[in-house]
Formats: sequence, C-alpha cells, structure tokens
Amino acid sequence: MDQEGSAFAPLPLDWETSAVAERRRRFLSPALASFVAYDEPVVWRRGEGQYVWDNEGRRYLDCMAQNVCISVGHAHPGVLSAVHQQMRELPHVTTAYHHPQPGHFAEELVATLPDGPDWVAHFVNSGAEAVDLAVLLARAHTRNYELLALRDAYHGMHYGAQTATGIGQARQLAPPAPGYVQVMAPHSYRGPLGPDAGPYLEELGRTIHTNTCGAVAGLIAEPIQGYGGIVEMPPDYLRGAAELVRAAGGLLLVDEVQAGVARTGDHFWGFEAHGVVPDVIILSKGIGNGFPLAAVVTRREVAESMAARMFFNTYGANPTCCAAGRAVLRAIEQEGLQDNARLVGGRILRGLRTLQERYPRLGDVRGRGLLIGTEIVADPTTREADAAAAARVQLELLARGMVVGLCGREHNVVKINPPLCATEADAAALLEAMDAALTLAL
Ligand SMILES: Cc1ncc(COP(=O)(O)O)c(C=O)c1O
Repeated sequence: MDQEGSAFAPLPLDWETSAVAERRRRFLSPALASFVAYDEPVVWRRGEGQYVWDNEGRRYLDCMAQNVCISVGHAHPGVLSAVHQQMRELPHVTTAYHHPQPGHFAEELVATLPDGPDWVAHFVNSGAEAVDLAVLLARAHTRNYELLALRDAYHGMHYGAQTATGIGQARQLAPPAPGYVQVMAPHSYRGPLGPDAGPYLEELGRTIHTNTCGAVAGLIAEPIQGYGGIVEMPPDYLRGAAELVRAAGGLLLVDEVQAGVARTGDHFWGFEAHGVVPDVIILSKGIGNGFPLAAVVTRREVAESMAARMFFNTYGANPTCCAAGRAVLRAIEQEGLQDNARLVGGRILRGLRTLQERYPRLGDVRGRGLLIGTEIVADPTTREADAAAAARVQLELLARGMVVGLCGREHNVVKINPPLCATEADAAALLEAMDAALTLAL
C-alpha cells in the first residue's frame, strides 16, 4: 500500500544545508546561536561506528563523538537492537510503576564500580540534571549547604549546574544559584600555582576556612576537565581534596560525564586513576551512546537521605534508555573497547608528541585514553594561547575528513575524543591530517 501522505509515511526532511540552517535560525531558540562548531553549518546525515557522513555524502572521522556521547560507535547494532526491542514492546514506563529494565541496568552499572560500598543508581536524562541531583543529595545527606566547585569546570547549563560551572561565558545574566563557592583548579600547563597538587590543596583548605562557614556539602570535580581543556587533576589532588572536604563534613562528587565509561582506557572510571572512591558519581553522555541517559550513583545511606520526601522525574529510568545503557556496557566488555581506547589513545598521544617536536606551537599534549587535548600557542615560551590558530587547525582538519572540537578557557585546545571503537588506522589518518593541518594553519 502506498503510504505517502499517511501517518506512517517517512517524515519529510529537507537536507539542503541552507534550509537546515535557516530553519534552525528561524524556529529554534536564538540561545543556540552561540553553540555552533563551525562558522559554516555542517549537516550530519548518517553515522556508523566512528564515522559520520554529511548531507553531501562526505565521510569524516568523528573525533568529537557528538560531544563525547558516542562511546561504542554510531548506530551500534547491539544498542539499536536493544532499543528497538524495548521500543516495540513498551517505549516508556514511568518510575511509579515497575519494569525490569532499570533494575538490571543499575545492577550491571554498579558492578563496574569499586567493591565495598552498597552502590545505588538514580537515573535521569542529562548531565546537568544529574549534577543538580548530586548536589541536592550531598546537601540532604550532610545537612550542609555550601558546595565547592572548580574554576574552568563544566557541569552543564541548568540552574545549579550552571553555577557550578566555572566558566563565565556559561553564566546567563541572572542571579546564580546560592551556595556555590569556586576554588582554584589545578592545571598541569597553565596552573597559577604550578603543576603539582600540594599548593592547590592548600588553596582548597584556605577556601573552606575563609569562603565557607567551615562546614560544606561537598566538592564537585571532573577527574579530567573536559570542556575546560582536557586537564587531568594532578596525582593526589582528588584524594587530598576528599580528605579536606570530608573533614569539613562534605562529600566528594565526581563528574564522570566526559571521563567515565571506559574512555580513559586505563580504567572504566576516571576517578580510578586517582586512588580515591567518591561518595557520589555523576555520569551521562557515553553511557547512553546518543540516548538521553544520565545517572547519579551513590552509597545507599547517602541516597536514603532523600527517601522520606518526594523525588522523581518523568523520564528517569525510561526502559528504552536503560536498554541502551545496558547494551553500551555489554558492547564495551564484549568488544574490548576499554583496552582499545588505551591502545588507540596511546598511539594518538605519542603521535602528537612526535609532531610537537616539529611544531613547537603545539604547546602541550595531554590526556588519557581517548580523551585528548593539544594546546595551540602563539609562542611555546610565553605559552600565549592562540585561539585563532586553533580554529584554523580545526577547519583544516575538517577539510581532511576529521572532526575535532575546541575547548579550554582560551578556546585554543584542540579536543580529540572519538568513539572508543576508533582504530589504529584511524589514529594514523588523524595524525597525517594533523601534520598537514598544522603546516597550513600555523
Ligand atoms: C563534565 C560534564 N558534566 C556535565 C555536563 C552537562 O551535561 P548535559 O549537557 O547533558 O546537561 C557536561 C556536558 O558537556 C559535561 O561535559
């Protein structure tokens, strides 16, 4: 039967680049205007594994993984099959009813965490929502109010998360959420107090004693600051910070939205490289492989602090998204993607360091596994950031079929975080393209 015009006909889509851009401009909120990857619109039409194709059929290595969301690969067959099966049966069950999918997912998810604590999971839909829930949990549990957050951290754009985010441009011109206190963040390359943890821990201690009442709800930190410029916390920082914060009555909240879910290669979770077990873990992006899924995982006794009062959100624990999350965990294990992230990421890091010998304006190369950044500077001695040159590198890479991002306070860090299924051949192609891009852009 010809379905044209019926409710089951494929939805019309106008793929023409200027039409896509014009509809976005005309009908989507102007607030999106500041969030575009390139000056000229790029329209993605299809994805498979680590690659995306634009509307004109050109293939690219997606080294941004759609903002670190695609972990096991675009259109991963296992994820699609789990999702299709759930969608066909029952796409949504609100949390007031029972369904096996969220419980299975929580069980499989907490199995990836260190043994010992009685971990429980609370599912929500986005990273910022999870951050706000984590902060609420910390406050409810400790009965303290003030929440410490690091400068240059990115935790999302909603009310509380926006205030926890230590990036001025991410603040709207409206009063921030109360009770957030920013602390100087360590930075191996640009840290005002040097690269080591000690001085930043002293600063954290001073902040607790001077900028708070002395009793805090917690500290929120990314093990590797993602949008802040791929800045890993130095050894001993998270452990030392946890001690200081716990001594002030607070919890350690770790934001694993970018660093978690096997991306760092060495470990499944970013915090595991830091010899500390957080009290609250926030995850999103890669866990859903493109489906809106986020979670806050914490010890039972912390979660119990909110049990006497009402808390739910309509789509939290949606079984279709939970099915996606379960399929992601299975794919990572069955396809050895954590190991792959370590191997392929190591290859990219080594390659960039070799390029650095020929291009000293690659001021710093850093990261772990497939969460990598390289600073473009005007002069390696002064370390002056060169955002314009970084943007040129990004464009030259695009012309060579490589999608990378820009991040860091000065927007001069080229960000490389492809899906965890990227191969050694992809790494070689990226490095070759980078060599050409650097020649032209610097
Ligand atoms: C580390 C980190 N936390 C939280 C968020 C917020 O996630 P969402 O955009 O899903 O709200 C992001 C988003 O980029 C992030 O990178």
